[in-house]
Amino acid sequence: MYEGKRVLVTGAAGFIGSNLTDELLSQGATVIGIDNMFNGRMGNLALAQKNPNFTFYKTDVRDYDRLLYLMKDIDIVFHEAAFTSVPQSILMPELCNSVNVSGTLNILNAARIRDVEKIVFASSSSVYGDTPTLPKHEKMHLDPISPYGVAKYAAEAYMVSYHRVYGLNTTSLRYFNVFGPRQKDSPYSGVIAIFIARIFEHKNPVIFGDGTQSRDFTYIKDVVRANLLAGLSQKAAGEVMNIAAGKPISLQELTEIMIRESGVDGLKIEYGPIRKGDILHSFGDIKKAQQILSYTAEYDVISGFQEYLNYYKTIILQKQ
Ligand code: UD1
Repeated sequence: MYEGKRVLVTGAAGFIGSNLTDELLSQGATVIGIDNMFNGRMGNLALAQKNPNFTFYKTDVRDYDRLLYLMKDIDIVFHEAAFTSVPQSILMPELCNSVNVSGTLNILNAARIRDVEKIVFASSSSVYGDTPTLPKHEKMHLDPISPYGVAKYAAEAYMVSYHRVYGLNTTSLRYFNVFGPRQKDSPYSGVIAIFIARIFEHKNPVIFGDGTQSRDFTYIKDVVRANLLAGLSQKAAGEVMNIAAGKPISLQELTEIMIRESGVDGLKIEYGPIRKGDILHSFGDIKKAQQILSYTAEYDVISGFQEYLNYYKTIILQKQ
């Protein structure tokens, strides 16, 4: 489907960007990947770098001139680069804003000048905030809590605006708690990546709060597929939509499953204080993406975790 397409992936060395890059290359696209290497790792691009259709540049989305230069002859942009952490956005709101808002504006301005056919933007379920309505759907009032959520909200509003005023074909995908291979294990990473690493280090997972909070964990392969569908969609022009598994699970239940399925003995769940800016429940309605993109989730958290676990045992633990 992507044979002959010239694609720019921002955040290409990161978790989502690198998985997307590999799939685009396998479908015959020519890919330019950029990353400022703040969160990215070159190891994530080991496969891509063996492909003659891939070129990598270490650059930042805040560098407009470089973006303008690199977007010459590009058909589709997948904008995955971001300041990705909710807790860090509370410590550094200005930095979060400059990367996630001004950086996105740079992408849009360069894409407009270069007549890029399509821009797909990685937004986030954090734009909804802690509203009681569940599942979260695209027509509801947005009420982000963290600076991260506010920045994603602003950036997707720019996406819609650039469609309306300049006619750009933009689509924003609101990801719900993405997990899977290559997600970094750092204090600011997604909880599944943190817990799987702790489990295999024989450390107890620590739940912030009582474990009743719930999330709609979405496996990376579904997120990549949603991007590929959006990248070729005319119908999705100017649209914003949820990309989720469409099924919530409590953190308590998930953690118990993770410990059990990992087969590591002697672990118990510990509990710590609730994290600042945390929301209680998050669960996405995926009907809009189904209608517009024919997106369906092929994985639920359990089947996704099984696949992630196999990867972790065969790739990560073998290296240690
Ligand atoms: C949020 C955003 C998501 C965004 C992501 C980026 C929402 C609904 N989601 O996810 O869109 O892409 O941040 O970082 O706002 N937890 C523990 N122990 C740990 C780590 C986390 O209990 O060691 C808990 C958190 O307190 C939270 C849950 O696990 O309740 C999920 O946390 P995390 O994986 O960081 O994602 P969100 O904050 O939900």
